[in-house]
Amino acid sequence: MTFSPGFLSPQVRERIEAEYRSRRPHSRDMFARSQRSFPGGETRSVTHYDPFPTVIDHGAGSHLFDVDGIEYIDLVNNYTSLIHGNAYPPIAEAISAAAVTGTVFPSMHLSQLRLAEEIIARVPAVDMVRLTNSGSEAAALALRIARRATGRRALVTVSGGYHGAVPPFTEGEPKTRTLPFGDSAALSDMLDDHVAAVFMEPFLGAGGVIPQDPGYLRAAQEAAHRVGALFVVDEVQSLRNSPHGEAARLSLDPDLVLMAKIIGGGLPIGAVGGRRELLELTAATRPEHLEHAGTFNGHVATAAAGLVSLQHLTTAAISELNAHAQHLAEHIEAAGADRGFPLVVTRSGSILNVHPGDAPVTSPADAHRFPPERAALHLALLLEGIYTTPRGMINLSTALSEDDLSAVYRGYDRACERLAS
Ligand SMILES: Cc1ncc(COP(=O)(O)O)c(C=O)c1O
Repeated sequence: MTFSPGFLSPQVRERIEAEYRSRRPHSRDMFARSQRSFPGGETRSVTHYDPFPTVIDHGAGSHLFDVDGIEYIDLVNNYTSLIHGNAYPPIAEAISAAAVTGTVFPSMHLSQLRLAEEIIARVPAVDMVRLTNSGSEAAALALRIARRATGRRALVTVSGGYHGAVPPFTEGEPKTRTLPFGDSAALSDMLDDHVAAVFMEPFLGAGGVIPQDPGYLRAAQEAAHRVGALFVVDEVQSLRNSPHGEAARLSLDPDLVLMAKIIGGGLPIGAVGGRRELLELTAATRPEHLEHAGTFNGHVATAAAGLVSLQHLTTAAISELNAHAQHLAEHIEAAGADRGFPLVVTRSGSILNVHPGDAPVTSPADAHRFPPERAALHLALLLEGIYTTPRGMINLSTALSEDDLSAVYRGYDRACERLAS
């Protein structure tokens, strides 16, 4: 059976929303108060959902606690950045130590050097690195390096891809060319000698956790190099999925690599790594260097937290996370099918996206189907104590216990029961 738009009954949707509202009076009031200070009540677009977002009070390990005293298992982990869960004690210790001896200095320091050395040892395409304060800033710096290296202006991205919230990676920029997803033929049409760089994610993260075909990624790398453009792999989300990053696993050899999220251990960070001669364009020891300033670049506490985050993300931990994620994906699809609320799960490593419906999800366009069902699944899971993103993206942390995972399985079972009833 193929489910067409609107397979959720309006009564079920209303019932779920009414229960959500009735159990969260403090979140409702705080959101109303927040709307007087923040446009739309928020300072980050993705954190909004109707009727009002649950306001978090604190987190501990694999759990979040909201201002109404409701406890959740955290499957968001601040959008894949908290790979060891909330307030992971070794990271808390590293941050506390930095809080006592100085959080940020107007000079280089050992913490940032250690983090750089860890990243270089881990990611084969990274000979050298520059630290920024977010993945968005890292994308912007990579583009500046590419423009300086090639003397060209245009950049190429993939439709449904995401490289952060700053121009020219945001919509409607004249120098940005967008490739249709997975279309190998379009590579030769769109790439020419005006292109400075081609940016690709191994899987479209914000685009619905849609893996890109490895053959297509390699073709894009070749096409970029054929026209003299740089090939940039955005590992902001994917780095966690393999011991040396996804580019290495997929036999890609990028000129530049973007990183963020897990390399900051829960504090703000981004990084551009890559070929020595490209990174050295930013060396202040060179007279004509590309300026890369930033008051908080290489922040002491962030670097210390990021080092612990990476050191504790061992090969064994990655394999375990990925295996748990595979079982969870199978369970969720079976839970939906058995209960008459069909779900498709897309996955890369320990990052998954749960999509309503029973048709395959293989492109970013497929990840936008059934908005009411998607929204209702999110609220139903919150009612079951499972904290997910509104768009259905979830990811695992090393803080999740076997009991937590069993509770997640039950949560999806019950949410599907509510939605199918
Ligand atoms: C693939 C990818 N690149 C870049 C970014 C931007 O990173 P940040 O939010 O740290 O600016 C994100 C954020 O989600 C991302 O998923």
